[in-house]
Amino acid sequence: MTRAHVIIGVGGGIAAYKVCSVIRHYTEAGHDVRVMPTRAALNFVGRATFEALSGNPVSTEVFDDVDEVAHVALGRQADLVIIAPATADLMARAVAGRADDLLTASLLTARCPVLFVPAMHTEMWEHPATVANVETLRGRGAVVMTPASGRLTGSDTGAGRMPEPSEIAALGDLLLDRADALPYDLDGVRMVISAGGTREALDPVRYLGNHSSGKQGYALARAAAQRGAAVTLVSGATSDPGDPAAVTVVTVDSARELQEQMSLLAREADVVIMSAAVADFRPVAVADAKIKKTAGGEPAPIELATNPDILAGLVTDRGEGRIPTESVIVGFAAETGDADGGVLDHGRAKLRRKGCDLLVVNAVGEGKAFGTDDNTGWLLASDGTETVLPFGSKTLMASRILDVVASLVPHGQVPSST
Ligand code: PMT
Repeated sequence: MTRAHVIIGVGGGIAAYKVCSVIRHYTEAGHDVRVMPTRAALNFVGRATFEALSGNPVSTEVFDDVDEVAHVALGRQADLVIIAPATADLMARAVAGRADDLLTASLLTARCPVLFVPAMHTEMWEHPATVANVETLRGRGAVVMTPASGRLTGSDTGAGRMPEPSEIAALGDLLLDRADALPYDLDGVRMVISAGGTREALDPVRYLGNHSSGKQGYALARAAAQRGAAVTLVSGATSDPGDPAAVTVVTVDSARELQEQMSLLAREADVVIMSAAVADFRPVAVADAKIKKTAGGEPAPIELATNPDILAGLVTDRGEGRIPTESVIVGFAAETGDADGGVLDHGRAKLRRKGCDLLVVNAVGEGKAFGTDDNTGWLLASDGTETVLPFGSKTLMASRILDVVASLVPHGQVPSST
């Protein structure tokens, strides 16, 4: 990645301390980081911390460094602006086009992607003034994250918690890769996404599993939620990629548990994405007690039963009207080439077999796809269209998949019911 100019604006909220990790992420990636706190932000984190972390001078004021015309120059040269925490007041000032500190002045001159990361109490987030301001900012092309729900300052909990730094960085990186990667075009779309690997129990301590980390499915859930979708993520075993903000997470263990959840949740879904790595087989018997090693004896063979094909079952459910007939069903294919054909040949055959609308084909094996941060592949559509998904982060791949999904959702955009 080339060295980018990143402005990190910091609003006056208790979550300001969390932004230090975001600053570190960008300096460690070799980018030029300018931190612009508001005056209120300095009540929470001192200027010295921001200067030490960014390696650049820090100012709140338009009238510092006047000879360099900083309030115009820094915004103009920025490749990305992240504002975290974005308080209700800061977003209101941005909407009004105020320029009464260095940060808001820079927002007026910046022509790059701007990512607002709100953090405030639930009442402030839900107040009609804030709702209108968020809508205005999104309408102007800014990305305003939907905050997480959880513990707020003090003892209260609710919507308004600032998303975790790793999530902010993932979306910031995505916008550096692709400025238009997060349009607010899935507002009100109900989406169910499976991720991670299933575990098929053998006894109380052992299972048959696979190497899925959940990163690809979680990246899809994260990007979809930030494009406005109401996302339920059905998660098998993962390497803990961190729960995405504004996503409902349901955990499952085995393929049959996954099937139960998917067929239930798909009844209320406009889009279903099966990115989970599902075990095709499970042990016929699950021992009640740990299977013991017999002295010198050979292990008993494990008899396997075939698991249900969840994806094919969902396509059947749709055909028979058990889930919305207009819904879009997306499968994944983890493929390796062999004597019978290449990865893409197997992917095409799988699309025909499963009958879904879209199939993401990724080559696996030799350190590819499973557990990695990056991915590549093809997106095959049932109408014969084939799109290359170029190598990049799993978040970038998710954004490209969602572009196609958004074009297939009935009417492109379903109005929000809220
Ligand atoms: O989790 P990561 O480490 O980020 O890795 C991502 C990934 C490689 C797991 C992901 O990108 C991926 O390819 N997921 C699908 C893996 C898989 O199970 O592929 P498959 O070719 O065996 O299955 C094809 C499709 O059928 C998949 O959508 C799968 O969810 C579904 N399936 C498979 C078996 C089964 N019994 N029921 C199913 O529904």
